[in-house]
Amino acid sequence: MDKEEVIVAKKLYKSFDKNHILRGIDLVLHKGENLGVVGKSGIGKSVLIKCIVRLIEPDAGEIDVLGTNVLECNSNELNELRKKVGYLFQGGALYDSMSVRENLFFPIRRTQFRDKKLDTEELIERSLRSVGLLDAIDKMPSELSGGMKKRIALARTLILKPEIILYDEPTTGLDAVTSGEISELILKIREEYNTAAIIITHDMKCAKIATDSIKIMDEGIFKVVGTYDELSRNEEKEVRDYFI
Ligand SMILES: Nc1ncnc2c1ncn2[C@@H]1O[C@H](COP(=O)(O)OP(=O)(O)OP(=O)(O)O)[C@@H](O)[C@H]1O
Ligand SMILES: [Mg+2]
Repeated sequence: MDKEEVIVAKKLYKSFDKNHILRGIDLVLHKGENLGVVGKSGIGKSVLIKCIVRLIEPDAGEIDVLGTNVLECNSNELNELRKKVGYLFQGGALYDSMSVRENLFFPIRRTQFRDKKLDTEELIERSLRSVGLLDAIDKMPSELSGGMKKRIALARTLILKPEIILYDEPTTGLDAVTSGEISELILKIREEYNTAAIIITHDMKCAKIATDSIKIMDEGIFKVVGTYDELSRNEEKEVRDYFI
């Protein structure tokens, strides 16, 4: 039997004026799966995952996330759903005027999140431990390196114990070694939190380490699908070129 589906998006369309970004794209994410999405800059990767959590309203299509029909949710239902879907934004901005602890407390307060076992401080500490940065709890963002900021942004995503994580360029702007560490961390988080994830990336090392399979987006749909090894040996030069 197929593994349980946690995201099913069908025939999604989205245009901005005459700029037709999504043109009938389909996407299925299974429980426990790490799915990579690659494609040229501006092709619509971020738009796609924003549609999945309705930060952008698609023009047409169907989206089911964890058994909920996303396009028919009211705002309460949408808030409930977004607690289960962590979103690591491209750029991953922290609130500069807040300490790491306050940054992590923010989603707990906003969503009135309660955990059965852990109190707020324990939740914050658990998340920071998961990304290896418990020591940074009282630091301000300005005191953190780029790689540390990414980890803290990830800890902030983990705090609500999401079932799905949408990573938008988790390693952009980092050196190769730090990118590798973040990619390994994505795998570790899947084990620890039992998540499924969509990982948008330009970083082929990240795709190789962190994904089970990769979809290449072009002209508003997924054109090619395969594992890293399959795609890097694809007969089309255009496909192989992503892997150079
Ligand atoms: N809110 C918006 N209003 C108008 N146009 C938008 C909006 N959001 C995105 N776009 C346009 O949609 C296209 C796709 O953008 P998107 O951010 O999804 O690209 P991307 O594939 O994530 O690129 P990158 O790899 O550079 O992050 C771009 O042309 C962008 O200008
Ligand atoms: Mg993007």
